[in-house]
Amino acid sequence: MKFPKSYRVLENNLFSNDAFSLVPIRLEDKMKIMNWRNEQVYHLRQAKPLTEDEQNNYFENVVAKLFEQEQPNQILFSFLENGECIGYGGLVHINWIDKNAEISFVMQTDLEKNRFAEIWGEHLYLLEKVAFNDLRLHKIFTYAFDVRQHLYAPLLKSGFYEEARLKQHCFFDDKFIDVIIHSKISQLLELRLATEEDVDVTFKWASDSKVRRFAIQKDAITFENHSNWFERKINADDCVYLIAEVNKKAIGSIRFDIDDKNEALLSFLLDPTFHGKGYGKEILVKGYIELLKLKYISKIIGVVSINNIPSLKTFKSLDFNQVNETEGYVTFEKIIRNENR
Ligand SMILES: CC(C)(COP(=O)(O)OP(=O)(O)OC[C@H]1O[C@@H](n2cnc3c(N)ncnc32)[C@H](O)[C@@H]1OP(=O)(O)O)[C@@H](O)C(=O)NCCC(=O)NCCS
Repeated sequence: MKFPKSYRVLENNLFSNDAFSLVPIRLEDKMKIMNWRNEQVYHLRQAKPLTEDEQNNYFENVVAKLFEQEQPNQILFSFLENGECIGYGGLVHINWIDKNAEISFVMQTDLEKNRFAEIWGEHLYLLEKVAFNDLRLHKIFTYAFDVRQHLYAPLLKSGFYEEARLKQHCFFDDKFIDVIIHSKISQLLELRLATEEDVDVTFKWASDSKVRRFAIQKDAITFENHSNWFERKINADDCVYLIAEVNKKAIGSIRFDIDDKNEALLSFLLDPTFHGKGYGKEILVKGYIELLKLKYISKIIGVVSINNIPSLKTFKSLDFNQVNETEGYVTFEKIIRNENR
């Protein structure tokens, strides 16, 4: 039988960062994996060492079947460093209704001594991309016997928090021990159309000196002026005004003002407490995808102060073309071709 190489449920089947990558679990790694599990049986939910027959059976009858399923209960990966498998794991006990999953990971045993935290951190970084970006899960967590306290530091460093301690939950070496659950909830940014109820939060942003530092129009804004302007904008046919939310909290906005040539001038901002987390790129990409669903657009234009480094970098990183620089402002544009619609 030919062993499958890609999961139907995933949009991407390769997740990489520098030397590290996650790829769908490879048949060639099965005996390495068996050996690591047998060496580390003390912290796994595995009663006795695996045999080669059992491992072959498991790959043939359980693992291979996951690849074609629309909602597999687990998705397993080989974790590679420069192409060599140094660990394996993935998402297990996936709950497709509640959108959560448990994290599983076992690394090559002799790397545990000196590279445990680093390798766990790299694995979590990539697995989050699988869970949150690709599968759009809401929450991922670890379920660990309290026998490896050195696991907690890399989890906390990766933004997980200790959610629960299940007291004396497992019988282990003749005594009952605790199980610790560390969790992380998706921080994905979502966009929705602005409504009248956003008048206060948008006024707060418009009055914030950090947000307005590079604004073209620098005059102080009164609430009355803002609310009149805001009401006009959210009801205008030539404007698409979107609010970005993370876990239902408004964290920024992106607005497109469209002229009679179907060119959209964009303006975007983030609440200062959400700067520096990569949301600038996300709001811009998701914003123009949303815009193109709603309107016929020929070009998207951004005008940025030459001193506004975060904004300049955001446009450049997203392949906007720099077309002009005058009086301290740079103009970027993206021509929208038919295939983009
Ligand atoms: C523009 C804005 C949305 C970007 O937000 P952000 O994504 O949080 O921006 P970041 O702070 O992550 O900066 C983006 C990039 O610039 C880099 N950067 C930021 N300040 C920098 C500085 N002083 N020097 C060098 N690089 C800098 C960041 O490291 C980041 O680089 P990376 O993508 O390689 O990681 C946000 O700064 C904002 O709301 N500004 C106020 C409103 C505004 O200016 N809107 C744009 C008008 S067109």
